[in-house]
Amino acid sequence: MRWAIFGTGGMGREAADIVRRRFPDAAIVFVTDTGGGPVQGLEHVMPDALRDDDLVILAIGDPQLRFGLRERLGERRYGTIVASSAIVAPSAVIGEGSIICEGSIVNNDVRVGQHVIVNVLSHLSHDCIMGDFVTVSPRVSCNGWVEIDDKVFVGAGAVIRNGVPARRLRVGVGATIGAGAVVVGDVVSHTTVLGVPARSSHDPHRQP
Ligand SMILES: CC(C)(COP(=O)(O)OP(=O)(O)OC[C@H]1O[C@@H](n2cnc3c(N)ncnc32)[C@H](O)[C@@H]1OP(=O)(O)O)[C@@H](O)C(=O)NCCC(=O)NCCS
Repeated sequence: MRWAIFGTGGMGREAADIVRRRFPDAAIVFVTDTGGGPVQGLEHVMPDALRDDDLVILAIGDPQLRFGLRERLGERRYGTIVASSAIVAPSAVIGEGSIICEGSIVNNDVRVGQHVIVNVLSHLSHDCIMGDFVTVSPRVSCNGWVEIDDKVFVGAGAVIRNGVPARRLRVGVGATIGAGAVVVGDVVSHTTVLGVPARSSHDPHRQP
């Protein structure tokens, strides 16, 4: 069995480090469309060199690119990896192909979809739901009772205010939350919100 990490960018190399720390003897290769020389001492191959029993990790930060890659690669074995310094509650569910990076915390009754990236030092508090192909950048604080739909990108250091049991705060599909934003209400699908409090980047009332 071999781990095949798609991507040699920051996320790909981070994923390789996570696998190496968890499984020091694991066989690991990097995969890109171009292939190339070894990266960090690991073999680097093209997709046609993937084996049926490889555990593939899509380590591409952009949700849309990751989704497109998953469509292209189709059904196969996808690896799920939780860093050794991450804390995941026993009641949390992590979907296939997701990456939980170093120092992150996934609290009780959180549901994380497939091919989600939770980058370093981020916190998903109790009862949050993450769709598929969500990217959570470093140091994000997603408070309790929040629902984040598919393919959302959450920028570094963003804070998402909690929802309530009767109604989760909701971030719609394909939305982008800017770095450092403080989200205090629902975010409409396919919009970008910025600032404190977060406003749509097209909102004429947004302060510069
Ligand atoms: C929100 C974001 C996606 C916008 O990117 P963009 O469309 O390329 O935006 P630009 O850099 O062209 O900036 C457009 C305007 O928004 C402002 N802006 C950009 N990002 C902002 C942010 N996070 N908060 C507040 N204002 C922001 C810029 O100052 C600029 O304002 P102006 O038009 O008054 O000059 C991006 O800035 C961002 O925050 N990305 C997150 C990056 C990140 O966290 N990466 C993690 C990697 S691990």
